[in-house]
Amino acid sequence: MANLESDIIRAEELTFEYLTEDGGGLHHGGRAIDGVTFSVQKGSFTAIIGSNGSGKSTLAKNMNALLFPTGGKLYVDGHDTTVEEFLWEIRRCAAMVFQNPDNQLVSTIVEDDVAFGPENLGITPGKIRDRVDDALRAVGMYEFRKKAPHMLSGGQKQRIAIAGAIAMHPDVIIMDEPTAMLDPKGRRAVLEIAHTLNRRGMTIILITHFMEEAASADRVIIMEKGKIAMDGTPSEVFSDVERLREMSLDIPVAVDIAKRMRDAGIDVPKEIVTEEALSDFIAGKYDKG
Ligand SMILES: Nc1ncnc2c1ncn2[C@@H]1O[C@H](COP(=O)(O)OP(=O)(O)O)[C@@H](O)[C@H]1O
Ligand SMILES: [Mg+2]
Repeated sequence: MANLESDIIRAEELTFEYLTEDGGGLHHGGRAIDGVTFSVQKGSFTAIIGSNGSGKSTLAKNMNALLFPTGGKLYVDGHDTTVEEFLWEIRRCAAMVFQNPDNQLVSTIVEDDVAFGPENLGITPGKIRDRVDDALRAVGMYEFRKKAPHMLSGGQKQRIAIAGAIAMHPDVIIMDEPTAMLDPKGRRAVLEIAHTLNRRGMTIILITHFMEEAASADRVIIMEKGKIAMDGTPSEVFSDVERLREMSLDIPVAVDIAKRMRDAGIDVPKEIVTEEALSDFIAGKYDKG
């Protein structure tokens, strides 16, 4: 049931078609998003996965009003994204974090970078100072506030980009493969921050190709050729191993091991999709006395 009050994002038959230009003029590029209907509840943690070209980034850019539906409707906090007067409110409400941290950092000092968004919103300097400090603390980068972003690691830069999003005081943060270019340590830190923010009430939409990250969400949406192929809890979505393989998606390590254990006759519950849950299950079988 759609609950309009608690939905931060609502797509109704959302369609998006790129127009591409070549020597012969403009051409329709086919539907990158093809009649998609879904909503995202406030306070939830949703992962979006799907093979390359399935429409994830196009969807994210529509949610941030960088692109506009060519068909159907998209509402961000109840605002139709095509209504121009809501544009800045939508971009504040639905903040984006992109894949490449280097393309997002614009200043030569960390704290200036984090201040960039709120400055564009016309926030007073005193309030910006507080927002920047709070945002940098939220990502554990406060002590780096005077540093130059180019001196930081990829993971640290991505944390600064997230701080920049937080400083907008958004209602939802949409992250488009934020960990794709990071080493395992940076990846873990970014995922942990996403969960910490979510525990404090922030709605998170995480686009990822790491299945372990998706398995840690409340809900997983799988995109395929511009449509939603699956939508459910991680255990619902990841228990259909055959379907995932058909879509050329990886299977979370824990799901793979649990399946092998079931094949070997051990009754591992289908709800187990994370490594933590699986190791707890196995540990529970041992008498530790
Ligand atoms: N700027 C663009 N111009 C034309 N077609 C594009 C553009 N960006 C993406 N597409 C096409 O739209 C489809 C969806 O792409 P995208 O949203 O980037 O998918 P994903 O993020 O899941 O890899 C693909 O077929 C892709 O080739
Ligand atoms: Mg993409």
